[in-house]
Amino acid sequence: MTTKLEIVQRIIGGRPKQPKDKGHAFAPTNIALCKYWGKRDEELNLPLTSSLSVSLGSVGAETSVSLRYDKDTFNVNGEEIPAASDMAIRLTRYLDLFRPEPGVKFAVDTKSGVPIAAGLASSASGFAALALALNDLFHWQLNATATSILARLGSGSACRSIYPGFVEWQAGRDPAGMDSFAVPFPHPWPEFRIGLLVLAKGRKPMGSTAAMRHTRETSRLYTAWPTRVEEDLATIKTAIQKQHFALLGQTAEGNALAMHATMMDSRPAIMYFLPETIETIQRVWTLRKTGLEVYLTVDAGPNVKLIFLADKTEQVRESFPNLQIIAPFK
Ligand code: PMV
Repeated sequence: MTTKLEIVQRIIGGRPKQPKDKGHAFAPTNIALCKYWGKRDEELNLPLTSSLSVSLGSVGAETSVSLRYDKDTFNVNGEEIPAASDMAIRLTRYLDLFRPEPGVKFAVDTKSGVPIAAGLASSASGFAALALALNDLFHWQLNATATSILARLGSGSACRSIYPGFVEWQAGRDPAGMDSFAVPFPHPWPEFRIGLLVLAKGRKPMGSTAAMRHTRETSRLYTAWPTRVEEDLATIKTAIQKQHFALLGQTAEGNALAMHATMMDSRPAIMYFLPETIETIQRVWTLRKTGLEVYLTVDAGPNVKLIFLADKTEQVRESFPNLQIIAPFK
C-alpha cells in the first residue's frame, strides 16, 4: 500500500525546500453537482467514482502559512484553535507530510467564508488553499495537477477546489492515485447561480470518511451508486455543454438525493437531514410546481444549496430571504 508520504515525496522530492517568509493562497469552496461518495482507498482519498462540481468564485479560504520552531498553530477567522481539537489534529497530520526537518512547525492562518464542517465544503477550500500556500511558501512551482493531488491527500473534494468554474475529478485507476485529480470542465455559464442556505451551523454528527465507509459496508443501495454516478455525470456534462438548465438541475438534485438514499439504507442509518432540510426541500418542490425553475443539492450536512439562473434571483430571494447568492462565473 502506498502512503501519503510516498506520494508527497514523488511530487515534491528534489524540489526546493528553502522557504520564503510566508506562503499565501486562496482557493474557492466547491459544491458537487455529481457527488463523490465512497473511497476505494481511505489513506489516499481515492474515490470509487468520478464527480463534478462548481467552484464558488470568491467564496472560499484565504490562507497564509509560515514556519516556526515551537509548535504548530492554527488560526481560523482570527481565533486560535485548540491543539487537541479534531481540526487541529487533522491539519497537524497533513502538515507532517511537508516538514523540511522533523522539528519544523507551521503557523497557518485562514480566513474562511463558509461555516466550518456544516456540509458547506469548508475542508475542500481549506485543504486546497493550504496545499497552494505550501507550494508558494517553498517555491515548488508545482502545476495544477500536482497541487490537486496534494489537496486530495487532505480531503478528497479539495482536489476540485484548485480550479474555478465547473471541475471534474477523474477517479483514475492507479493504486497510487497519480491519475486521480481534478481537471477543468471549461464551459463558463455566467447566469449560473448557487444559493447557500445555512440552516444549522453545528458540527455534523459523522465525518464524511466514516460515513462513506459505513455506507459502502452496509448499504445495499450503494451497489447501484457507481452506475447512477456514471449516468448522472454524463448527463450533467451534456446539460452544461448545451446550457440545458432543467436537465442539469433535475440531474444534480436527483444525484444528491440518491446519495442520501444510499446513506439512509445503511445499517444503522446515516441521516444528515434535519426537519429544516426536509421543509426546505418541500418548499423548493412547491416553488417548482408554480413554474419557478429552482433545484437543490445537499452534502454531508443539513444545509441546502439552491441552483438557479440569474433571471430568477428576485423570485428565489423572495422565498428565501436569508439566501447567500453566489455567481460562480463572475
Ligand atoms: O471530501 P470530503 O471528505 O469532505 O467529502 C465530500 C463529500 C460530499 O461533499 C458529500 C460530496 C462531494 O462530492 O463534495
